[in-house]
Amino acid sequence: MSIQILGTGAYVPEHVVTNDDLSRMVETSDEWITQRVGVKERRISVNESASDMAEKAAFRALEAAGVSPESLDLIIAATVSADTICPSLAATVQQRIGAHCPAFDLNSACSGFMFALDTAAAFIARGGYQKVLVIGAERISRILDWTDRSTCVIFGDGAGAVVIEPGSQYLASKLFTQGTSSALSIPAGKGNSPFYEKEVGDYRVVMNGQETFKFAVRRLADDIKEMCDRIGITTEELTWVVPHQANIRIIDLCARRLGLPLEKFYMNIDRYGNTSSASVPISFDELVRSGKLKKGDLIAMCAFGGGLSSGACIIKW
Ligand code: UT7
Repeated sequence: MSIQILGTGAYVPEHVVTNDDLSRMVETSDEWITQRVGVKERRISVNESASDMAEKAAFRALEAAGVSPESLDLIIAATVSADTICPSLAATVQQRIGAHCPAFDLNSACSGFMFALDTAAAFIARGGYQKVLVIGAERISRILDWTDRSTCVIFGDGAGAVVIEPGSQYLASKLFTQGTSSALSIPAGKGNSPFYEKEVGDYRVVMNGQETFKFAVRRLADDIKEMCDRIGITTEELTWVVPHQANIRIIDLCARRLGLPLEKFYMNIDRYGNTSSASVPISFDELVRSGKLKKGDLIAMCAFGGGLSSGACIIKW
């Protein structure tokens, strides 16, 4: 059994932080960030928590789907920056929207939404679950080192969500984890145990950009190619690719490896930067609401991130 997407929703905070704003905080420039990353501005939460943003995206997805919160059978939220470890972000959203179903969080860093969507598809295939809300939500600004110019210029806050049910849209998926690399890590925090002999890292994003970059280009292209081969289509038959909005050069190199024009890749990196697990669902929601999708379109979604990990799927609209 496969799934179909009934509705999508997204939310980004109002506060805009431009590259020029950042160049007054760390040694960087609009020119460097635009050319090396592709971000012009990002949204940064001032007062809104990750669950505030997730709640708004969830309501929008439910409204688009025509599904009431009471009829949800499951909520899965992907996040690395939940307001609390427990209750989970999903549990907070469940309470806020007035749902009564089981709800849990899942972490596969920036690939998290793809892992959550595939997990939701597996629950539906198992039977007994009809309507599932899948969320990617991050207040990643809370765990950035705002003195580290190699990370703080890349990311932004936001949330995206989809409501799914049994159907036949989900043609293929691919999940990948390479646990041998610590190129992208977020230590869980120091605590104040008097018993630890070794220093434990602080709760901040730490990244080896070049290693992550190389992994990303290879994985995005390989994952898409493998899924296309599996379902017997050529990559040219893909109408759209909705990639993780991490770096415009990664997207460009992925397009070249696949031999696809860049116009097929949906992009909003210039406006939002990398919103981690919210990146793909925010982008997908914008694509859906743009009215550009036609029945039968083949859409690949793909993401990568800490783990290192990557996740991708192909759906038929
Ligand atoms: O969801 C997953 C998230 N992670 C990613 O997607 C990361 C993927 N990697 C990247 O996007 C890129 O590697 C970065 C954007 C992080 C860095 O770009 P790069 O072209 O790989 O730069 P680099 O690390 O090779 O650094 C080149 C130079 C260095 O200076 P020197 O040593 O050549 O003098 C850096 O210190 O650029 C410098 N640099 C900056 N300069 C101005 C690094 N960050 C900045 C900055 N502004 N913000």
